[in-house]
Amino acid sequence: MKNKTIRSVLVLNGSPSGEKGNCAAFIKKVSKLKKDFNFEVVHLARTSPNAGLKKKISACDGVIFVTGTYWDSWGSPMQRLLEEMTDMEATPAVMGKPCAVMVLMHSVGGKSVLSRLQGVLSTMGFLIPPMSGMVYSLVSDIALKNKNTHAKDFWQIEDAELILANLKAAMEMKVSWTTWPVDKKDPRRKWFK
Ligand SMILES: Cc1cc2nc3c(=O)[nH]c(=O)nc-3n(C[C@H](O)[C@H](O)[C@H](O)COP(=O)(O)O)c2cc1C
Repeated sequence: MKNKTIRSVLVLNGSPSGEKGNCAAFIKKVSKLKKDFNFEVVHLARTSPNAGLKKKISACDGVIFVTGTYWDSWGSPMQRLLEEMTDMEATPAVMGKPCAVMVLMHSVGGKSVLSRLQGVLSTMGFLIPPMSGMVYSLVSDIALKNKNTHAKDFWQIEDAELILANLKAAMEMKVSWTTWPVDKKDPRRKWFK
């Protein structure tokens, strides 16, 4: 009975190209993989990271952060969201909330984006389940068109299914996390005089 619960999953697309880009097409494919999730996709390029979006983040059971790789980093709309989410750090809205991270790239830099983004999210309070992040590249997309015994070592679209399963398992967990104290004053205030 518990496993039949429909979970609400917010998908945040950090691509500057929003709904027209590769990340959006990837999200379309991924969101067809899990029937017991209620996906809501937000294209950050077209959405201001305001109180309404923060409410959505607070209300959902889990979040999937999706971004391309742009000059070795995540998309500027994703960075803007992270900056605006500073006041959510260590709050019940994010503490222990499971998240997955999916990164696209052409060829290089995506794994560093994945690891750094997971690091930021964990510091903010999100829960990073095991095997909950992947990088999918144009290089793999081309290589995987040919059969190869090494193929299992490449991230593939099918791995997203496993990631969603781990996300779901994390959403079933009930843990009382402890938060460290956070300076709640304006993080933008001047300190250098
Ligand atoms: C401005 C720009 C910079 C990029 N930098 C990188 C990069 O450093 N490494 C890489 O492998 N791919 C890079 N790419 C390719 C994108 O990460 C890749 O095409 C991704 O799927 C884009 O998703 P989008 O269309 O949703 O924005 C870059 C693309 C753009 C437009």
